[in-house]
Amino acid sequence: MHTDVNALFANLWQDYVAVTPSAKKVHQLLGSSQQDDVSNDHIALRTFNLEKVNLDKLAAHFLALGYEQCGEYHFEAKKLYARHYEHPDRNQPKVFISELLLDKCSAYLRDTITALVAQIPADAVIAANFLYSGVHWQLSQATYEHLLAESEYAAWVAAWGYRANHFTVSVNELHSFSSLEQVNTTLKQAGFLLNTSGGEIKGTPEVYLEQSSTLADLQPVQFSDGIATIPSCFYEFARRYPLANGMLYSGFVAASADKIFESTNAR
Ligand code: NI
Repeated sequence: MHTDVNALFANLWQDYVAVTPSAKKVHQLLGSSQQDDVSNDHIALRTFNLEKVNLDKLAAHFLALGYEQCGEYHFEAKKLYARHYEHPDRNQPKVFISELLLDKCSAYLRDTITALVAQIPADAVIAANFLYSGVHWQLSQATYEHLLAESEYAAWVAAWGYRANHFTVSVNELHSFSSLEQVNTTLKQAGFLLNTSGGEIKGTPEVYLEQSSTLADLQPVQFSDGIATIPSCFYEFARRYPLANGMLYSGFVAASADKIFESTNAR
C-alpha cells in the first residue's frame, strides 16, 4: 500500500486521464490562467462485495493513509452499498467507495463476476498499485453485453477493473466560476455532454450539495475477442454549502449519487 497520500492520488489521476482524455480539456476550460484552482473534491471507486475485493479491501488503502470512515449510503434499485472516507487534513480529497451486492443479483451475474475476481492474485489486492491496476482477467464482448443487460455497474467494473471511476472538481475552489450552473453552461458551450438523469444538477442548497457530471468518455477496450468502444470514466462537479456551524458539508446525498452512477450508462 502507498505511504504517501499525494503519490496515491497522482497515480490514480495518471491512470484516469489515460482513459478519460476529456479530463484535461475540462481542466483547461475551468481553471484560471494559473490552473492552480482546479482541486479535487473526491474520487469514486467501484467494486463487488466478494471477500477478496470488497469495499473494506479498497478502503484499507485509505485507512492506512489516515483516512477515517464517515457516511454510508444504500442504493436499493442498483443493489449497491457505499461509504465515504475523509482525511483529517480536509484539503485531501474525500473518497467514495461502492460495492455491488452480488447476493441480490442473478446467478449468472454472481457466477461470472466470481470467476473474474478469482483470477486476481491474492497479493495484488494489497499492492500499492491495486486501486489503479485495471483488469486482472479476460472478458469477452458477449459476456460484457450480458452483464450490461442486468447491471451497468457490473459491466463497467468487468471492463475497466480497478481505477478511479471519476474525479470531481470542487466548484467552491474555482476562481472563475461562482455557481454550478455557470460551470455547466461553459461545459456545454465547449461541446461536453452532461448527465441529465435526475436533471443536470442533482441536489440543492437545502441538502448542502449540488452535483453535475459529464457523460463518460467513449474509449476502446481490448476484449478477449476484439476491441470495442464503450463508456470509460467521467468528470464530476460539486458545489458544497456551509452547515450552521460554518463548515462546508462534507458528506454525500444518496438520491444524487444514485443519478451520478448513471454517467457511465451506454448510449
Ligand atoms: Ni462522485
